[in-house]
Amino acid sequence: MNLVMFGPPGSGKGTQAERIKRRFKLEHVSTGDLLRKAIESKTELGKRVEGILAAGELVSDEIVLELIDDVVGRVGSDETVAGWLLDGFPRTSGQAVGLDDIVAAAGQEIDAIVVLDVARDAILKRLAARGRTDDTPATVSNRLDVYEELTEPILKHYEGKVSIHRIDGDQQIEEVTEAIERLLK
Ligand code: AP5
Repeated sequence: MNLVMFGPPGSGKGTQAERIKRRFKLEHVSTGDLLRKAIESKTELGKRVEGILAAGELVSDEIVLELIDDVVGRVGSDETVAGWLLDGFPRTSGQAVGLDDIVAAAGQEIDAIVVLDVARDAILKRLAARGRTDDTPATVSNRLDVYEELTEPILKHYEGKVSIHRIDGDQQIEEVTEAIERLLK
């Protein structure tokens, strides 16, 4: 089973992905985590993207598509996992089209998209309490604007092609997990 976890910054994509991956034996792929690791390791990629993450802007489609291409190919040939769970990708129409190509070339498909709905005010409170380096009020506000402008609209790309499930992400963490598990059974 191949899934995409979708939703605004702070909606709980990473939290839920960690829980769902164990239940369904999926490889969890977070482009944000991959980029932060590159920054921590001070790789060439990390140096190129550090300022972009700090500002809450998006890194180029080319960079993230390369990261995803590597993973989809590897997971497809790994018999110990049952599929992939993408978190924070795709985020632009270019990434959605690129993912279609990668998935088709690997002979795979996206089985479902899970959208976590959480209101802006609730997210501002959550991320103020967490304090990651890109959780400053100005950067969070920009990340939310970028999501609304560039990412939320790409759901239209999948309408009629992939099952899209909307979940209320403003519940207890366990309740959100149970709601996702129910729809994936
Ligand atoms: P990324 O790491 O993907 O960040 P994000 O989308 O902004 O999402 P977060 O990780 O902040 O939130 P989340 O939805 O995973 O929620 P979480 O579970 O952490 O991207 C970071 C940056 O990398 C981007 O801004 C961009 O620059 C770059 N980037 C990444 N992917 C890219 C791409 N595809 N293209 C271009 N650039 C890209 O939870 C958040 C907090 O809420 C936690 O403290 C958690 O404990 C809490 N929480 C979770 N669930 C609940 C709940 N139900 N109730 C209360 N609190 C909760």
